[in-house]
Amino acid sequence: MNVFWAPSGELPKEASTPEEISRFVVEAAVHAPSVHNTQPWWFSTADREVSVHADVERRLRVADPDGREMLISCGAALFTVRVALRYLGFVPKVSVLPDPDLPNLVARVGWGDQTPPVEYERQLFAEIPRRRTHRGGFDAEPLPAGLLSALRDEAAREKATLRIMGDDGQRAALAAVVEAADYALRLDSARVQEESKWAPPPGSQRRDGVPATAYPARQERTEPSFPSRDFAHGHGWGLPPAGQGSVPRSAGVVAMLTTADDHPSDWVNAGQALQRVLLLASSCGISAALHSQPLELTQLRDFIRVQLSGGAYVQMVLRLGTTGQAAVSVRRRLDEVLL
Ligand SMILES: Cc1cc2nc3c(=O)[nH]c(=O)nc-3n(C[C@H](O)[C@H](O)[C@H](O)COP(=O)(O)O)c2cc1C
Repeated sequence: MNVFWAPSGELPKEASTPEEISRFVVEAAVHAPSVHNTQPWWFSTADREVSVHADVERRLRVADPDGREMLISCGAALFTVRVALRYLGFVPKVSVLPDPDLPNLVARVGWGDQTPPVEYERQLFAEIPRRRTHRGGFDAEPLPAGLLSALRDEAAREKATLRIMGDDGQRAALAAVVEAADYALRLDSARVQEESKWAPPPGSQRRDGVPATAYPARQERTEPSFPSRDFAHGHGWGLPPAGQGSVPRSAGVVAMLTTADDHPSDWVNAGQALQRVLLLASSCGISAALHSQPLELTQLRDFIRVQLSGGAYVQMVLRLGTTGQAAVSVRRRLDEVLL
């Protein structure tokens, strides 16, 4: 079996009772990306309503003390809930962070009115289990015409901005910051320890964390160099790399997802925008690599904001491109997250 192309799970195609609908949308939502695949969420249901909750026990205490990455992950799950409801023909009614006394209640999503989904919504739904985070270089092929402006529009619909780093100098500067951050994280034993807790060894039965089937065993060099996190921590775990080793591959189109402010609601919006961008890109055969290394170090995140993003708050660094690879990830079962 070519593990790069292993199927990553089928989603159910229909649901009719409120219980079935809740299960259907949560089954879809768990496919959302999350930092280190911590899946920092749980879901509850009431009459014709699903709530998304942040699971603070799964927050990265060292890397993510404010819960920013946790809420971006939950925002991605929230957008996936919306797509699944649209697939079923419901119009989702979303309230984000609806109760100041319950800061971990990320959103309530009700459904009532019905309108058949349009083709675009069906396409996004189909990508939910197919989309995978890529770690490495891309083929030297341009993105489909018009895709970048469509992705920018997607982000704007969720009150975020997708900034394409078209200038060579700016792209090189951002790559250098990612590289500096990656070195710094490797030198910090508390961070290394935390990350290794979310990187189970090959053959592990765990349904969370970044499995060895999700990254190449050898770091794939890109031009400019955007190093991936070292999930194997020197153990040599991972998949056979696709590149030629010494020949650097393309870094792809480099972009940053930013928000005008930096409050919990902005983080949820950024997560929704992220998943929206990723699903549309995936529907066009485009994969994304994500780099949050510099965003976990306050000085480097500030440096990017001041020097490279015109004062906007950077929530994610992305690279987009085509690749024959698709990693295999894992998810917890429905009964572990739907309470
Ligand atoms: C907030 C956030 C930060 C992330 N940071 C990184 C990163 O720095 N490096 C990386 O390889 N993947 C990163 N990811 C991707 C996750 O590792 C990935 O979503 C998770 O392992 C699940 O795998 P999947 O996206 O292939 O389903 C990040 C995802 C989110 C939501």
